Amino acid sequence: MSSTHLHPIEQKLLLNLKKAGSASPQSLSRSSGLDINAVMRGLDWLSSKGLVEIEERHEELLRLGREGERYVRDGLPERRLAELLREGERSMGELQRLVPAGELGIAIGWLKRKGAVRIEGDKVSLVSDAVEEWPDERLLKMLASGALKSSQLPAELKGWVKALLRRKDVLRLEEEVERKVSLTPKGCELAEGVLEVGESIGQLTPELLKDERWRGKEFRRYDVLGEVAPATVAKRHPLTRLIDEISEIFISLGFREIEGPIVESGFWNFDALFVPQDHPAREMQDTFYLVEPGTARLPDERLMAEVAGAHENGGATGSIGWGYRWSKELAAHTLLRTHTTATTIRHLAKKERLPIKVFSIGRVFRKERISFKHLPEFHQIEGIVVGDVSFRNLLGVLKEFYASMGFEQIRFRPAYFPYTEPSLEVEVFFEKKGRWIELGGAGIFRPEVTLPFGIEHPVLAWGLGLERLAMLRLDLEDIRAFYRSDIEWLRSLPL
Ligand code: PHE
Repeated sequence: MSSTHLHPIEQKLLLNLKKAGSASPQSLSRSSGLDINAVMRGLDWLSSKGLVEIEERHEELLRLGREGERYVRDGLPERRLAELLREGERSMGELQRLVPAGELGIAIGWLKRKGAVRIEGDKVSLVSDAVEEWPDERLLKMLASGALKSSQLPAELKGWVKALLRRKDVLRLEEEVERKVSLTPKGCELAEGVLEVGESIGQLTPELLKDERWRGKEFRRYDVLGEVAPATVAKRHPLTRLIDEISEIFISLGFREIEGPIVESGFWNFDALFVPQDHPAREMQDTFYLVEPGTARLPDERLMAEVAGAHENGGATGSIGWGYRWSKELAAHTLLRTHTTATTIRHLAKKERLPIKVFSIGRVFRKERISFKHLPEFHQIEGIVVGDVSFRNLLGVLKEFYASMGFEQIRFRPAYFPYTEPSLEVEVFFEKKGRWIELGGAGIFRPEVTLPFGIEHPVLAWGLGLERLAMLRLDLEDIRAFYRSDIEWLRSLPL
């Protein structure tokens, strides 16, 4: 290694150390004109190359706390009591009136400990009326003009430091590190070679090439092994990144993204999906209902009559329906959507030209108790395909999607949703745990859902959990991590 391998900061430091012998980082900063951070960084590099040695001495530093500052100004509570008692003995009752609440006990306690007070029955008096300066008062006075190193204190005050430290925020103990830097033999040798700093070129610029100033100069090499402080770059939240990745996948499969409101009506969230009005999922324990605004605008009467018909007796769908009286009021209740299927059915109602391939990724809300597994707010990945399609196409899309996410092994299990038939649950195999994990539901919309909207083709539909997928991807055990804003964790995630 020659000195031209070194960064100009390192060269400057070597040069200054050669002159000074050994020095503190502060004095190196003064002599080199480098700021203290640059000095510390440079010293770090030099020491990792074995060119300097840094000796560290830890010093205890004492300074006044907030209460200590007040005591310097107003005197210790026991000093104030002693002043009062100098005028003559007092009864406890009198003292309780004269001394601020909460201070009397402290003041008497310390006067006793300092052997300055006599208590006979109810009477409190001073042992002697010449109460000179106590050592702890002297200590506070010394600290009033600035922090002191513990090692610099006179021996007789050391015990009093302990006593004062026991009192709340009177003293603060800090640690100071003193560093002494010196050259190692290898550093000395190299320092000989450093003549003047600024002659080597670290970066070749167009200007240097144009006016040929590079001629005759030395070029500094890149030190790819040099230690540098970790750079924390801005990045997007892992969930946002996953959402973008998933959008890309669906778009590449020919899907279009749709959006829908988070504040929904019972109608779109449940009724339009043939969820009966007495279904447990609609209860207050499961769904967040809104107070303000309490009612939503409903679609036109004709459409509602179709949906009501499907619920009550099947209407024109060929079904016998649920067999109850459908209520418009319940349909008008506002709520936070419990699934993105509300957005899907809203879109279907627009009756676009077939085939339809759309997806959405959005927030949904359910009254869940917060735990490592559940949050009352999470995301779903939702989509539909409408056209000349079959159940097999549904399985194909899901397989394709999870394969793009890196899950090759998936399986389907029969399930039940009020709005699909057949219905299924998707599970992926998680290698690391050797377990199947359920990630979402899917199915083909029932005629009771589609016919009221005039849709006669099969609608393949799915709603998948985003957070669980993200947890598998990031190897997380606790779903709450996504919402904890733990900056260290967020920084540590690889891009
Ligand atoms: N909405 C269902 C859920 O939240 C998922 C689903 C969507 C099931 C579409 C079938 C069809 O669990």
